[in-house]
Order: sequence, then C-alpha cells, then structure tokens
Amino acid sequence: MDPRPVGMFDSGVGGLAVARALLAAAPAERVLYFADTAWFPYGPRPAAEVRKRAFAITHRLLASDVKLIVVACNTASAAALAELRQAFPGVPFVGMVPGVKPAAEQSRSKHVVVLATEGTLDGDLLEQVVAEFGRGAQVARVVGRGLAEAVERGEPDAPATRARLRDLLGPEISRGADTVVLGCTHYAFLGPVITQEFPGVAVIDTSEPVARRALDLLDAADARSPGPGGLSVIASLDPDGFRARAARLGIVPAAQEAAR
Ligand code: DGL
Repeated sequence: MDPRPVGMFDSGVGGLAVARALLAAAPAERVLYFADTAWFPYGPRPAAEVRKRAFAITHRLLASDVKLIVVACNTASAAALAELRQAFPGVPFVGMVPGVKPAAEQSRSKHVVVLATEGTLDGDLLEQVVAEFGRGAQVARVVGRGLAEAVERGEPDAPATRARLRDLLGPEISRGADTVVLGCTHYAFLGPVITQEFPGVAVIDTSEPVARRALDLLDAADARSPGPGGLSVIASLDPDGFRARAARLGIVPAAQEAAR
C-alpha cells in the first residue's frame, strides 16, 4: 500500500480525461493534477520550451511527494518523456503515445489519421510508433489547429468546433481513412463529436489504456492507495477559471493546491 498521490500534468484540461479514467478504475487513488494554464497551448511551442515546463512541473509534483507521474499530454510526452525518465531514474513515468497500433490493427481500409498538435506530429515518438506498429497502413498526419483551444474553452461540441472538425478530417476520410487516432489528450473530449460527424469512422482514444498502464505499475510495486481518493488540481494561471472549465466538462476537483 502507498497512500501518496499520483502526479499528472497537461497544458490544461486535456489530461483530465486520463485522470477521469484512472479514478473511475481506482477511486481510492489520489490524483494531483497540474494544469499548465500559463503556458497553454503547448502544441505550437518549440520542443525545448515544452521540455523545460515538463521538468519544472515534475519538480513541483515531486515536492508534493507523488509516487508516479503520468505525462497526460502527447505534446509533452513527445518533447520530454525520454529525458524525464533519464533525469529522474527513481520516478516511474507513464506517457501518452498515439494509438497507431490499435488503429492499424482494426482499420479495414488500412488508412488511418493521426490528429495531433504540431509538437506531437513533429516529434520522433510518432515516427517510432508508426515504424514499429504501423503495419504498412497509410498514416495521415493532421494538425488539429484550434481544437485544443476549443476544448479548453469548454466548447467541444460548439457549431464552430464541429465545422473545424469537418474541415480537418473530411478530406482524409473522403479519401478512405476509416480510423481517427486522437493524438492529443484534449481531443478525448471530441471523440463523441467526431463519431457524430463521421458515423462509421472508428475513434481511438488512449486515455483509458494509459490510466490502466499507470495502475498496472502501481500493482506491480504493491503501491495502490488505501483511500480515500479524489482529484486535486494545481493551475499555473487562473485556478478558479480552470476549475470552472473542468466542471463544464463534467469533472469537479475536490481540492486545489498552490502552483508554488
Ligand atoms: N493536451 C496536449 C496534448 O496532448 C496539447 C494541447 C496543447 O496544445 O497544449 O498534446
């Protein structure tokens, strides 16, 4: 047993999809979630800048004695996961990897779309996953420009968001893509909207598998929490606004901590 919290971070509300999945499977866990709202969005920033933020946030989470850290952000995972593991060898990290493997396995047309930020699409991590698990499928890369912002505003199904999704995904889907990989944690909140806009297209969301992977690591170390569990949040800018935006997505944190 280990009563310490699980640390988790993202640029904003996106990683809450992973926190929600983890707490649904393990309600006795305490999740300490750092939303880097002062630096949102990460997607268009240079990798070195995102890496710097990932290191600063890791130090802050470790100051709260977390037992494991989930990098609940594809952009930060692409920019910093390998370096974090190297720099903090005693800390277990779980990161986001675009779900190219399940997509390539289940696609009938062998044509899939990875919808992600510039940072994720430019990183080596995606190339490695495509090379290892792409199974010869055609993997189109589409930058979800404006989508993380729409989710962050609490507007995942606003008409403008739907129109943008149609513009971004329509061309590849009409060319035969039958599977969309959500390569950014913010897009987990867009999954149902994508399914409504493109019936018959499969959507791959890795929030749950990542939460499961974190719990598997805790099990292997006999480090599950005895409870009581719940979600605490830290936001680097406007914590009250962040809580309100999370609530609009159906996630209500129990407590709040200071960023420093
Ligand atoms: N949620 C982040 C991700 O998974 C990125 C959103 C942003 O651009 O900050 O990539």
